[in-house]
Amino acid sequence: MKILITGGAGFIGSHVVRRFVTHYGNYQIFNLDKLTYAGNLQNLTDIDKSPNYQFIKGDITDAPFIQSLFNTHAFDAVIHLAAESHVDRSITSPLDFIKTNVEGTLQLLQAANACWQNKTHKHLFYHVSTDEVYGSLGKTGFFTEETPYNPQSPYAASKAASDHLVRAYQNTYQLPTVISNCSNNYGPNHFPEKLIPLAINNIKNNLPIPIYGKGENVRDWLYVEDHAAAIDLIFHKGTVGETYNIGGHNEWHNIDVIKLLCQIMDEALNRTAGTSAQLITYVKDRAGHDLRYAIDSGKLQHTLGWQPSLNFEKGLRQTVSWYLNNETWLNNVTSGAYKNYYQMQYGNR
Ligand code: NAD
Ligand code: DAU
Repeated sequence: MKILITGGAGFIGSHVVRRFVTHYGNYQIFNLDKLTYAGNLQNLTDIDKSPNYQFIKGDITDAPFIQSLFNTHAFDAVIHLAAESHVDRSITSPLDFIKTNVEGTLQLLQAANACWQNKTHKHLFYHVSTDEVYGSLGKTGFFTEETPYNPQSPYAASKAASDHLVRAYQNTYQLPTVISNCSNNYGPNHFPEKLIPLAINNIKNNLPIPIYGKGENVRDWLYVEDHAAAIDLIFHKGTVGETYNIGGHNEWHNIDVIKLLCQIMDEALNRTAGTSAQLITYVKDRAGHDLRYAIDSGKLQHTLGWQPSLNFEKGLRQTVSWYLNNETWLNNVTSGAYKNYYQMQYGNR
């Protein structure tokens, strides 16, 4: 089985690549990644010499390149994670999101469809998507697989468009596809533009922790390895043409996440209790900030038996330890372009 994983040098992709390379020695895993600011081969140094692993640097929007890649390798399946993934960047540079998330997905669908004219049971295009396609919830309710799409940010709209294209290829060309929509991930290798790793880095360096608005927005957090396990399960046992929601049943107001993180960081850094919380700084809200996400993952739990394995506090402690033990990784990704991004994003808030 030859599997193309796109975006495998990113946060979630690197955990998916590691899981497939280490659990399935009989599969050939090809990791295609453009290595944007978010892609980092340092995420995979523990497995990059494995005989069943190959890295390919390339852009999913480059049609001739993608077609020739499929012609050369005749992949049996695709697990598609490559994307522009940060909501704040989508507010300042929406076109980048349309290019990669919509056009890039279309090029992959096109190449897979051309390659898989004689379809076998092995062929599958697995599209990894987000709960943000469903929009924002009020104080109650959950997103199910039947919730109508109502994306609110350019990022969410671009992911919604890519989901629609995947379903259109399934319907029009009978391309075997599956989609999963997951809630907020956290864990090792998370790029420090996102709330949790940004706060860890700032607390470590005694810098303000920026909280948008009043910190009342709610996210449903899932440890990244639990997402990778769900992807593995759906890839092998999911039904073609179906959609699966993945989530942690773990809703937290942003401010409460940060207070817990401050407590864990105080302990880890041997600081007096309450020291890190003094860094909390309320700043101008994100434009169009979605109030609440909460996933009903009942379908995945009941039909395929998936369960999240870690409770949040344990997962956060593991995450903090990883960042404190991987200082070189953190210093590398927060130098250079990151400093410009940080200034642009937070300088005037
Ligand atoms: P990430 O930003 O950490 O990684 C994205 C990866 O894609 C990077 O390695 C980057 O180099 C690569 N990439 C970007 N543009 C590319 C292109 N044109 N060609 C090839 N590679 C390209 O993202 P992530 O947080 O790991 O998210 C991975 C996927 O999971 C995305 O599709 C995202 O929408 C989805 N998702 C993320 C979350 C989350 O909480 N992070 C939750 C649900 C779904
Ligand atoms: O729900 C899944 C989505 O989760 C994924 O599809 C996205 O790729 C991923 O980035 C994430 O989106 P969010 O916008 O929810 O994640 P982020 O870490 O950027 O923000 C989490 C919450 O914290 C959100 O309410 C905004 C807030 N926030 C974020 C940052 C970066 C702050 O208060 N301050 C900050 O500095």
